[in-house]
Amino acid sequence: MNYENILAEIFQEIKPIKPDGAVATYIPELANVNPAKYGITLLTIDSKQYSEGDAAEIFSIQSISKVFSLAFCISLLEEDLWKRIGVEPSGNPFNSIVQLEYEKGIPRNPFINAGAIVMADILISHLAQPEKEYLSFVKKISGNKNIQYNEKIAASEKEKGFLNTALINVLKYFGNINNDIERVLSFYYYQCSIEMSCNDLSKAFLPFANHTKDFQFDTVCLTRSQVKRINAIMQTCGLYDEAGDFSYRVGLPGKSGVGGGIVAIHPEKYSVAVWSPVLNKKGNAVLAIKSLELLTTKTGLSIF
Ligand code: DON
Repeated sequence: MNYENILAEIFQEIKPIKPDGAVATYIPELANVNPAKYGITLLTIDSKQYSEGDAAEIFSIQSISKVFSLAFCISLLEEDLWKRIGVEPSGNPFNSIVQLEYEKGIPRNPFINAGAIVMADILISHLAQPEKEYLSFVKKISGNKNIQYNEKIAASEKEKGFLNTALINVLKYFGNINNDIERVLSFYYYQCSIEMSCNDLSKAFLPFANHTKDFQFDTVCLTRSQVKRINAIMQTCGLYDEAGDFSYRVGLPGKSGVGGGIVAIHPEKYSVAVWSPVLNKKGNAVLAIKSLELLTTKTGLSIF
């Protein structure tokens, strides 16, 4: 497969498109991002890297971090994690509160905000230094010691985080948060504020594509089956209420973030990260989805 030519073609086709949407503004710091940024990196399981555009530039990974949290929590709790979080697609927006009340404080899946907030609570309960250990895992899995939290973005989100505050109060009411809610939200905003490039993200997600190899980074240790299950949840829940459309158009497990990034994996073939900050109404990056659709169309290969 000539990934170099395919990525070059995608870049040429994407560049002239003016996406219909807007950068995230509900986190004020994210509103300052240049909407014209675009990067893509594909990393094969034999470690050949192909990239185009702003692939080396760091951006806010936001909800892409929820995959790292899930890996951490499954490593710690194994199947017991599912006593506190479900594995069904929610069919609702990532920050929706409606389902949480009638499902009595059990979030539908780990990738909606309510699920990720429960995972933050679990990590605080199990780790002596959650912020330090979380970042250490992310540095290790991406092979980049320079990765950091962006405190300005975390503070900006905290200041306007009214909906997440509402979600955690509902969770706490139903007994699904064990720690102080301010402490949990602070850690949650930190993990969302991590900044990585497409190059970093493709590296960090390669172990999910390479599920036949050992998964061990710092203290996070997963079996083959656990890695495959994380991929399954990315397939069904990774793009929230757009997971079905993403599956239909792209046909790969993927995870999006409101910083404009989307990472996808093709098991036993490659990981791919795309960044384009303009989001559609569901909070997913318009040109990142388009790029991945072009990728699986041009290669003629998806998981289906
Ligand atoms: O809690 C939030 O709303 C953000 N920190 C993360 C949301 C997000 O990235 C949704 N993904 N598309």
